[in-house]
Amino acid sequence: MNYHLSLREVSYALSEALDYVGIDDTMHGKRVAFMAAEIGKKLEWPQKRIDHILIAGMMHDCGVSSTDVHSHLVNELDWDNSQVHCVRGAELLEKVEIYRDYAPIVLYHHTHWDELPGSLDGETRENANLIYLVDRVDALRVQIGDHSTRDRGEIGNIIRKYSGTMFCPELVDAYLSCAAADSFWFYMESEALNGYLDEWLEAGVSENVTFDLLKSISMLFAEVVDAKSTFTTEHSYGVASLSRYIAKQLGLSREQEETIELAALLHDLGKLRIADTILNKQGPLNEEERHRMNRHGFDSHMILRKIKGMSEIAHIASLHHEYLNATGYPYQLTDTLIPLEARILAVSDIFQALIQDRPYRSGLPPETALSVLEEMAQEKKIDSEIVAFVSDHLEACYEHAKKVLEL
Ligand SMILES: [Fe+2]
Ligand SMILES: [Fe+2]
Ligand SMILES: [Fe+2]
Repeated sequence: MNYHLSLREVSYALSEALDYVGIDDTMHGKRVAFMAAEIGKKLEWPQKRIDHILIAGMMHDCGVSSTDVHSHLVNELDWDNSQVHCVRGAELLEKVEIYRDYAPIVLYHHTHWDELPGSLDGETRENANLIYLVDRVDALRVQIGDHSTRDRGEIGNIIRKYSGTMFCPELVDAYLSCAAADSFWFYMESEALNGYLDEWLEAGVSENVTFDLLKSISMLFAEVVDAKSTFTTEHSYGVASLSRYIAKQLGLSREQEETIELAALLHDLGKLRIADTILNKQGPLNEEERHRMNRHGFDSHMILRKIKGMSEIAHIASLHHEYLNATGYPYQLTDTLIPLEARILAVSDIFQALIQDRPYRSGLPPETALSVLEEMAQEKKIDSEIVAFVSDHLEACYEHAKKVLEL
């Protein structure tokens, strides 16, 4: 099936997801996008290039899923291990047709201006270096603050000091000129920043997007979330494969199958907001940690809500921890409000998690995982007919749950 979507909205949702990694310091990608666009305007770049740099800014940190890596990146001006997230981000973008052009910008967004390879074309050099410059400005904002002329001057002095070495002199000059206006800093407050980007989103157009393209974008999202913890690698892929298999075998329409597969790839996006220490904790979570963990279905919805053509997928994705007896989370819905697609997703999610190694236990054999599902069905938490299907096709379900898709 074809979807009618605005790719600006899709990229924006990806940036929302990435911003959650900041936890206490969110909206980094949006601020980087805003600053880069304003500097591009100052340099009289054409609108097409401004659009390009905005998207690059929003997605530049797609190689970062770990809250620990994020904290190094905002607290150190020139962090030794920064190249890892550049390479990882570029590799991911390279695999998705519509994002391929952004890969070199992301690859070089922590490379000094005087160290960029000579083979790189002029526009890409400037784009990559512009993201580097404003990314560092945002990190300095966190360290120094930006409320007084003195703070802003201090940030400007540091950037100026590296003109010609870390940063392109022309970009430094354009930055200093933009940063002289109070409004430049006011725009970085959340309400103004969201308004700025909303205007850009509204000016975007919807286009027909094939299932295959949407799937590759959703797989990119899934790779970002699954990379957060070594224990969740390929979880989303396994859930997607299993839930689509169940949907097909139960006779759902092709359209429903596709909806389920995409929802499965996206279901745990909200986990990007959970600190690594909670996700990787060995042993039971305390109440506060459990509270943080249990809101991720809601946060997955918050990330996807801006994409108008994907509201059904977002809805299904956000219901993957609801129980039929209304004891699930975060909406505590009753069974009549939980559609079949979400029930299939819930069973697939639990089954995949059970057979996978987790910090507190190793992966369970399929028969043991099935008995957990059967117990949950008896407690009226999950759909007993879907569990019966898993029981009848245990071998195939196990294979699907272990499947690794190829982005
Ligand atoms: Fe960054
Ligand atoms: Fe989940
Ligand atoms: Fe999950």
